[in-house]
Amino acid sequence: MSGVEGRVVAVTGAGGGLGREYALLLARHGARVVVNDLGGARDGTGSGHSAANAVVEEIRVAGGEAVANHDSVADPAGGAQVVADAVEAFGRIDGVVANAGILRDGAFHKMSEADWRAVQDVHVGGAFHVVRAAWPHFREQRHGRVVVATSTSGIYGNFGQANYGTAKGGLIGLIRTLAIEGARYGILANAIAPMAATRMTADIAPPEVLEKLGPAHVAPVVAHLLGDECTDSGEVIVAGGGQVQRVAWFQSKGVTFAEVPTPEQVTDRWAEITDLSGAVPGVNPVG
Ligand code: NAI
Repeated sequence: MSGVEGRVVAVTGAGGGLGREYALLLARHGARVVVNDLGGARDGTGSGHSAANAVVEEIRVAGGEAVANHDSVADPAGGAQVVADAVEAFGRIDGVVANAGILRDGAFHKMSEADWRAVQDVHVGGAFHVVRAAWPHFREQRHGRVVVATSTSGIYGNFGQANYGTAKGGLIGLIRTLAIEGARYGILANAIAPMAATRMTADIAPPEVLEKLGPAHVAPVVAHLLGDECTDSGEVIVAGGGQVQRVAWFQSKGVTFAEVPTPEQVTDRWAEITDLSGAVPGVNPVG
């Protein structure tokens, strides 16, 4: 096979925004798609079937194959059902795009337990529940693709997004580990940090910036990461507005203390410890 042709991919949160673009492009390139979406508001409240159903209809009208799923991926049974629906409709599951997400922004000193928890549940829990359900299939068939939606907020931090940044950073830890555990089984796990005009960013960036950031720019990158030709795993790719970049970690040469140092000795050598000249890439354990 080549690309995603004939593959079965579940895209969570595919009723709108980026997920919808992913689902449409994947279907156009011959994938059979489970379009999951709870259909709620940006903050995760509410639900409805129309968003996912409309995307399925769009795919079918264009001659593609898709089924809708309306479960919340934050719920373990809901996440498992996404995969069950793929297997029931298409007989297999080859890829998961853990894309569903919500926003509950607020400065850290005002952040409630509920807003912290809800964001972890959808982003981190949602990825765990769906990928965990797909994993035995991936291992069995010795082929699988995981793409999680991370964010520059998770990589670099962002004011007012302690909950969201933590969740998105956590997803990078997830794919780095899945890349290691999946390597023997032909399973690749990568993260996409998109930048796109959707309801999530509608009031965050000015219109002249947003108009250059159509979500369609990101979808081909996700399709590549799901495709048969992809060999990378554990990578973090930033994509938006036509630009596609790899994010990597570097470690300074640092200092090796022959004996346990005093705090003062650490202080004295701090400039050397943190100096990045001569830094080397952090080791990608599957690279
Ligand atoms: P969006 O709000 O249009 O899409 C998110 C979708 O997830 C919605 O359709 C929503 O109904 C669905 N969803 C929410 N909770 C769900 C649940 N529990 N179960 C199933 N579906 C659920 O936003 P957008 O921008 O398309 O975001 C997609 C992903 O990309 C998110 O994970 C977001 O955090 C991430 N992202 C987006 C960026 C951007 O520039 N738009 C920047 C960085 C990350």
